[in-house]
Amino acid sequence: MNTLLQEKTALVTGAGRGIGAATARVLAQHGARVIVSDLDPVTAQATAQEICARGGAARALEWNVADFPRIPEKVAQAASFWGRIDILVNAAGITGTAAIEDITPEGWDRMMNIDLKALFFCTQAVFTRMKAQNYGKIVNISSLAALRGGRSSDASYAAAKAGVLNLTKCFALQGAPFQITANAVCPGNILTPMARDLSWSQKDPKSYIPLGRYGEAQDVANAVLFYASSLSDYVTGDAMNVNGGLYM
Ligand SMILES: NC(=O)c1ccc[n+]([C@@H]2O[C@H](COP(=O)([O-])OP(=O)(O)OC[C@H]3O[C@@H](n4cnc5c(N)ncnc54)[C@H](O)[C@@H]3O)[C@@H](O)[C@H]2O)c1
Repeated sequence: MNTLLQEKTALVTGAGRGIGAATARVLAQHGARVIVSDLDPVTAQATAQEICARGGAARALEWNVADFPRIPEKVAQAASFWGRIDILVNAAGITGTAAIEDITPEGWDRMMNIDLKALFFCTQAVFTRMKAQNYGKIVNISSLAALRGGRSSDASYAAAKAGVLNLTKCFALQGAPFQITANAVCPGNILTPMARDLSWSQKDPKSYIPLGRYGEAQDVANAVLFYASSLSDYVTGDAMNVNGGLYM
């Protein structure tokens, strides 16, 4: 076991599968105690059990991040496992594939609630604790769509993920006096369960991705590890592209 994150506690949302689960595994491999939270308690439990079976420390937490009134209670529950939260990774999210003319006000609100508003209020609740301990690492999962617009994912998703990049800078600016860093990772086309719904997953990656393959959840988790660790202590308000060269 690597000791890069020894004595650190990480809370990862959306960690039942995909990028969140890979992130929980990587942080645990580097010594962090991980709270594996997800809307789906079964997958959260499975990820936590897998980490523990490999000698890591993990606890599962059922948590719908868009249940706004319960956010303070859920963050308090997460903090109670090991007494603090040093690292917050906001990976919970949904996507959509509606064309511009098919987006409804209800669909728009659902996207904003889960991908943007929930990320803000979950971070707000953890931010207060990080300020009190004068230490924190916030890592937000944005998207390539935040930079170039939504093509296979819809416009509300792209707008929410662009908002995530701006919120990352707000947390970075207001967290800096308290040694809290906030950074984002912008994944390109990553093969996770979410990708099954997106048209790009049917294409040959060699035909359009410079590195000739789709990303794995682990590729994104490795970038999160950098921002979650002391390796990035002098980096804040930043965003890293993990896309095989797709955005150049
Ligand atoms: N897969 C990609 O190509 C890609 C590209 C760019 C960005 N992303 C982003 O990465 C993040 C993870 O995506 P993924 O590909 O692993 O997707 P995924 O669908 O495989 O996993 C998302 C996880 O989030 C959970 N979740 C959804 N809504 C939730 C809620 N309200 N509360 C708590 N948990 C909730 C799901 O249960 C699931 O376990 C998302 O924010 C997504 O937008 C993914």
